[in-house]
Amino acid sequence: MITTSKGGKVRPSPASKPHKVLVLHGPNLNLLGTREPHIYGGEKLEDIDGRLVRQAAVAGFELETFQSNSESELIDRVHNARLTAVHFIVINPGAFTHTSVALRDALAAVRIPFIEVHLSNVHAREPFRHKSYFSDLAVGTICGLGSKGYEYALAHAMAFTPSK
Ligand code: DQA
Repeated sequence: MITTSKGGKVRPSPASKPHKVLVLHGPNLNLLGTREPHIYGGEKLEDIDGRLVRQAAVAGFELETFQSNSESELIDRVHNARLTAVHFIVINPGAFTHTSVALRDALAAVRIPFIEVHLSNVHAREPFRHKSYFSDLAVGTICGLGSKGYEYALAHAMAFTPSK
């Protein structure tokens, strides 16, 4: 499990402007760098997270990242996001994408907008990866762009203004 929480105190945004983003990584993504690099690339998760933290800090945003192999820990983290004023979530649910009604329900329950990210192009892979329990709730989905997908999602999250 990897947890980081950095960068937020660099340049706080005005209190009126939502400025806290949570990045969630699902199961097996802690193995990035060694896990099927021909599919997922050679970067480690900590390197991806480090870049995202810097990208957010430069823009005056607070960013937390969290990886877990446990469905219940991811669900708890989504619930906690509501209490900690997270305004946007970027999530790669990993294999839970294709199985987890419970994680989907957690995101629906907290009503925090989110983008679904996949490193690989799940639509060009096995048929069981074509089904996502998240895409219809997501603001958008990015897949097949490798770790750049997280950066594009974060850029959108930081530009996002919630509609009333
Ligand atoms: C993944 C795609 C999923 O199908 C797979 O189970 C993962 C990673 C991706 O980032 O491409 O663990 O979400």
